Amino acid sequence: MKLTKPLFILVTVLAISSCTKIYKKPETAVTIKEAYKENFYIGTALSQSQIEEKDPMVTALISKEFNSITPENIMKSMFTHPEQDRFDFKLSDKYVAFGEKHNMFIHGHTLIWHSQLAPWMAQIKDSTAMADMMTNHITTIVSKYKGRINSWDVVNEALNEDGTLRKSVFLNSYGKDFLTLAFKLAAKADPKTDLYYNDYNLCNAKKRKGAVDMIKNLQKNGAKIDGVGEQGHWNLTSPSLDEIEQTILDFSALGIKVAFTELDITVLPSPWDVVGADVNQKSEANEKMNPYPKVLPDSVQQQLAARYEAIFKLFLKHQDKISRVTLWGVNDGQSWLNDWPIRGRTNYPLLFDREFKPKEAYTSVLKLKEAKK
Ligand code: G3I
Repeated sequence: MKLTKPLFILVTVLAISSCTKIYKKPETAVTIKEAYKENFYIGTALSQSQIEEKDPMVTALISKEFNSITPENIMKSMFTHPEQDRFDFKLSDKYVAFGEKHNMFIHGHTLIWHSQLAPWMAQIKDSTAMADMMTNHITTIVSKYKGRINSWDVVNEALNEDGTLRKSVFLNSYGKDFLTLAFKLAAKADPKTDLYYNDYNLCNAKKRKGAVDMIKNLQKNGAKIDGVGEQGHWNLTSPSLDEIEQTILDFSALGIKVAFTELDITVLPSPWDVVGADVNQKSEANEKMNPYPKVLPDSVQQQLAARYEAIFKLFLKHQDKISRVTLWGVNDGQSWLNDWPIRGRTNYPLLFDREFKPKEAYTSVLKLKEAKK
């Protein structure tokens, strides 16, 4: 079909305006890590293929935009210590080398966690065997990377929602002092690395109180703890900014650093209105629960941008208390939230889209700093 002149103009205008939907960073803007370099580290979680630098474009983006990294999976005990007498450092060596090559703050995740646990560890029944396991596990791994891994999640997710200690193989076999033991072992293996307790839903008052008491107990027992990691698996409205602020204030009042360690904002409906990260919860997918399979509507894109902007504004207000803000993944396609709590959905929780293009949320976080200049 031959286009008439008016039709040709209309088609051209439509084509140009649809291109503007691809959010391009303004030429003059710095990258996000540069924008926040005086405030706190801006981190991301790396998948195995990102650690192995399978795609040079993705490696370039990671090193340009982020100055801190966390291994999303490969340093969990099922990978690093798969059998009682066998450690496997193939991937964690690559991970640390990646961070050093790109001059990044390198975080270790995680030493003691009930999930993605090496199966043999789950069989431990008595306190002596648990103490032996923790001594060997923590001492070997932390010593190996002494002076190279800048901070560790020593214990991950030890609390229930009501603030009590979660039933786990560690608690069952050793008792509540497994936390003190873990932090003391880590400090002995590398006295200079920063040691964190990391958990989700710490903005909830009861769980936060449980964490505060737990940290006070560690301090009373003479264990070194340098910081708390609030994971930050949040949604468009919850937790409130007040709850986030209270969390920053309560933890920093203990004399420790606050890090936001796994930040992502789900835009999808929750089957139980649950905010958090209990990986055991799953539910069947259906259309109602997966409303944006192709593209995120502009209105939601803007809500996401506004939510990120408000959160980073609060982070800036408390920058003296915050050590690091880490996004849980580089781009939307990589996010665990596409498969949790329902498998196979299309979620949009991060700052870069599936094509690694910066989203409106990215621009809003960046503009916040530009506005301050
Ligand atoms: O590697 C296998 C692959 O071989 C297989 O084909 C595929 C099929 O499902 O599964 C792959 O393993 C998955 C693994 O991620 C690597 O992608 C597991 O099923 C999946 O359960 C696992 O999920 C991870 C989750 O921790 C497990 O607990 C997520 O990637 C990771 O983002 C998530 O991270 C946790 C933090 O460590 C702690 N805080 C909560 C956070 C979110 O759950």
